[in-house]
Amino acid sequence: MPSTRKILATQALPYANGVPHLGHLVGMVQTDIWVRLQKMQGHDCLFVCGSDSHGTPIMIQAEKMGITPQALIEQIQREQERDFTDFHIEFDCYHTTHSAENKELVATLFQRHVERGNIDKRTIKQLFDPVKNMFLPDRYIKGECPNCGAKDQYGDNCELCGATYLPTDLKNPYSTLSGAKPIEKESEHYFFKLQNYEKFLKEWTRRGHLQEQVANKLDEWFKDGLKEWDISRDAPYFGFLIPGEKEKYFYVWLDAPVGYIASFKKLCEQRKELNFDDYWGPDSSAELIHFIGKDIIYFHALFWPAILHGANLRTPNEIVVNGFLTIDGQKMSKSRGTFIKARTYLNHLPAEYLRYYFAAKLSDRIEDLDIHFDDFTNRINADLVGKFVNIASRCASFINKHFAGKLAAQCAEPALYQTFAQAGEEISEKWEKMCFSQAIRHIMALADRANQYIDEKKPWTMIKDPQQQAEVQAVCSMGINLFRVLMIYLKPVLPQTAKQVESFLNIPPLQWQDKDKPLLDHTIKEFQPLINRIDPKHIEALKMAMNEETQVATPPNKETKKECISIDDFAKVDLRVAKIVEAEAVEGADKLLRLMVDVGEEEKRQIFAGIKSAYQPEELVGRHVVVVANLEPRKMRFGVSEGMVLAAGNGGQEIWVISPDPGAEAGAKVK
Ligand code: MSP
Ligand code: ZN
Repeated sequence: MPSTRKILATQALPYANGVPHLGHLVGMVQTDIWVRLQKMQGHDCLFVCGSDSHGTPIMIQAEKMGITPQALIEQIQREQERDFTDFHIEFDCYHTTHSAENKELVATLFQRHVERGNIDKRTIKQLFDPVKNMFLPDRYIKGECPNCGAKDQYGDNCELCGATYLPTDLKNPYSTLSGAKPIEKESEHYFFKLQNYEKFLKEWTRRGHLQEQVANKLDEWFKDGLKEWDISRDAPYFGFLIPGEKEKYFYVWLDAPVGYIASFKKLCEQRKELNFDDYWGPDSSAELIHFIGKDIIYFHALFWPAILHGANLRTPNEIVVNGFLTIDGQKMSKSRGTFIKARTYLNHLPAEYLRYYFAAKLSDRIEDLDIHFDDFTNRINADLVGKFVNIASRCASFINKHFAGKLAAQCAEPALYQTFAQAGEEISEKWEKMCFSQAIRHIMALADRANQYIDEKKPWTMIKDPQQQAEVQAVCSMGINLFRVLMIYLKPVLPQTAKQVESFLNIPPLQWQDKDKPLLDHTIKEFQPLINRIDPKHIEALKMAMNEETQVATPPNKETKKECISIDDFAKVDLRVAKIVEAEAVEGADKLLRLMVDVGEEEKRQIFAGIKSAYQPEELVGRHVVVVANLEPRKMRFGVSEGMVLAAGNGGQEIWVISPDPGAEAGAKVK
């Protein structure tokens, strides 16, 4: 029996300016599966998390809603807890960074760094909104690109020409909060001298168990040289005041990771047997593992270990990074109609389906992960229903009906059972090392093997022969036992189903080592359906709900001042021949026709085109036209428009759709 490990696992603290979405769930599910595995194996593993409750966006969001930031973060924290609980995420503590514990810890850590000479103070110039009376974070400043003149570009890079620059370089800058022209204003800021920890960090990153891609990223940053880090923000701000200051706050990213410690501290209050220093003291022998998304590596792999080490606390053993979620191949975005709130999903589908789907796709690499709904449906129906649950439902009815629920006293195929039990070693290692998709593949291969065994034995035929009754009991008991082993392996992913199975099998909660001994001479209960097939209706309903929640995109306003575009700009436009396969008027729209066009490669697109005044829908069907195939999809009142049909003219009767010469086929590139 391996010795008990003492582990503290954390998951990135979601911001309290919005409710959880499926992107948040990727890391949550990954962490929860891993933690549940540890717990099932008898390890002493704790999982803490909480709400990241500070920063400008939270302040602005609260203002928009006409409530105080406190009211907002409390409301969101409640929704986060409710949503995560409904996804069966089991925290030992879910706290908030806006807590007494965190405030005290941040002050202590800061003080230690002051004493070590790691904090610098100096005056810098920043853009200031004279109407809102506040300094503007980069994301609230827009203006014209200093390189190409494109309008409405953010303060750090141009979406059109790709130039990068400082917000102070923008021409005609304006505050997105008030529209006012920002002025430059001086202010004194606190800086953490990260460069003091260069040597330590270089060593730490080599010692730590970082994924290869993370280590590579760090090397790049080391090459660029570590820079000091601005850790203060001026009022108005929602956060903790810096001790001794009246108008300066700690930057949210300083107190956010300290929130991990605060959450643990809160847990210590609830469980007196826990000792704070055992976990966070410099000599802690507990394992500390942070699970995060790929966008916040810098904070966790550079700032955080330096802050901890310099404050005489232990550093993490491991940082596990997950990739980003995409929906049907698209970035999650409100304007694309690909944004799914956790609650919206739950209104239509069971949480465990998503847990399983994520598990089947997660790996130890930082790869983005896509929810493709057809694939999702197939996975659940084929794996969980068709393979896994099928084993139990095929066998249970015989045991229930013909043997009063009694399992055979002996294992019919000890060798086969052994194969299943021994596979546990490898599967456990796969879970442990975050190779989740490999674990699932292995488990499903075993499920195939179990079904094959039942197929070979054919209990449904044997049952008709009075001589073979004992054999039926033996085979079906074997099937139930193989199913039970698979349930153990899947329990970290499907905790809810595991509960139902434990009740059906009439056994205490399954532990990992239970795999080694089959259930013999034991009475089970009546089988109840465990996991249902996905009805495509539910997927459709979820997609509808997604669309309804999607905000109508504001028309982009990005005309450039220059009269020429570069050849590269032109090359970005994917012009293609398309064939109109459907055309109809849109109810409630005077100018629009809804077209379905074939853009080649068997792909059909819906496009809303403002050509109704010049064309009857029927005369367009079958016609070849030219479309912009890579236009960002736009959500309109009537549906999503996925491209644009090129036409000339001034509107009204004067519209001429551009058509290629006869012979051009759908999908042909237009250059
Ligand atoms: N508050 C910070 C984390 C502070 S940790 C001390 C934050 N919050 S967040 O709400 O933006 O994101 C929370 C976690 O969800 C992060 O790990 C982030 O990478 C992850 N994700 C946010 N959107 C995601 C996807 N679309 N896909 C996968 N993970 C995503 O960052
Ligand atoms: Zn530009």
